[in-house]
Amino acid sequence: MSFSNSRRGGWGFRMKKRVLSGMRPSGKLHLGNFSGALDNWLRLQDEYESFFFVADWHALSTDYAKTGNLREYTHNMLVDWLAAGLNPEKCTIFIQSHVPEHAELHILFSMITPLPWLERVPTYKEQQQELKDRDLSTYGFLGYPLLQAADILIYKADFVPVGIDQLPHLELTREIARRFNFLYKPVFPEPQPLMTEFPKIPGTDGRKMSKSYNNAIYLADTKEEVWEKLRTMVTDPKRIKRTDPGDPEVCPVFSLHRVYSSPDIIQQVDAGCRTAGIGCIECKKWLNSALLQRLEPIWERRSQLINNSSMVKGVVEAGAKRAREVTSAVLEEVKDAVGL
Ligand code: TRP
Ligand code: SF4
Repeated sequence: MSFSNSRRGGWGFRMKKRVLSGMRPSGKLHLGNFSGALDNWLRLQDEYESFFFVADWHALSTDYAKTGNLREYTHNMLVDWLAAGLNPEKCTIFIQSHVPEHAELHILFSMITPLPWLERVPTYKEQQQELKDRDLSTYGFLGYPLLQAADILIYKADFVPVGIDQLPHLELTREIARRFNFLYKPVFPEPQPLMTEFPKIPGTDGRKMSKSYNNAIYLADTKEEVWEKLRTMVTDPKRIKRTDPGDPEVCPVFSLHRVYSSPDIIQQVDAGCRTAGIGCIECKKWLNSALLQRLEPIWERRSQLINNSSMVKGVVEAGAKRAREVTSAVLEEVKDAVGL
């Protein structure tokens, strides 16, 4: 029995469904990225034929004017992925710009995509509003959802794990697939989103954890840094004195307990907080030990990887090679369909 075709681009029988996702190299990963996306990827790599990539071209679409940190960010992100447990034996890890077929498919898609399809993607106007400090009236920025469509379709991915904000991009991807299949030949399957319930991860100020809010706990933080951030983290604002009972529902520390602590501890915090049976520092110490349990193995692997850039390089070289086995086969089919 041979499944050689299953590892190629063709529509032949595949043993496993194929999953693909990317992340922009924004620098170090924080708990929000970790528990929101990466943790999910760790599960997927066991079940699916998975491709995960650093979307460095996508980073250029908004940050083209300052690229000085791009390589460092890409490296750090790969180190965080590997330290967190993405396993190159189980999944394919690569850097987008190492796989030029994404770009070649993008240019073909650009020929068949009506401009209004791109102009009505919600992130287009939203981000232009939000990032007023730069000129985003560029060709690349408008076309970035189309590049994302190419990222996905060049693998004929079955599923794309994404957050809710990315759903319009996936819808566009399906529209592009249909249009291509209609104009030429049925080459592309329509990928489905793989939505998981992402826990909400608040930062130390209670707002959503984000690099730009300066409220994040990073995978690369030290033990001391983690505790310092927790120690000074906001709690229920109405709980001023130790003897005041608190309301865990409004406390961001409790939200983190919900994600990282055992049911037992969560129960004890809930009861202890409402009755002023525990103090906030005690509560934060429990959270600290739950977090350390999660982070210590990551730190251990991280310290081995951080100065081993040849290891990381080896992973992405092998990853690009494997990715290109798929993408070059699909691109052949595409060129054939288009008549090139
Ligand atoms: N646009 C995604 C983000 O900003 C990153 C991304 C690029 C992506 N290409 C992708 C995600 C393909 C899933 C599939 O988060
Ligand atoms: Fe928040 Fe814990 Fe303090 Fe309650 S005891 S307010 S849950 S930090």
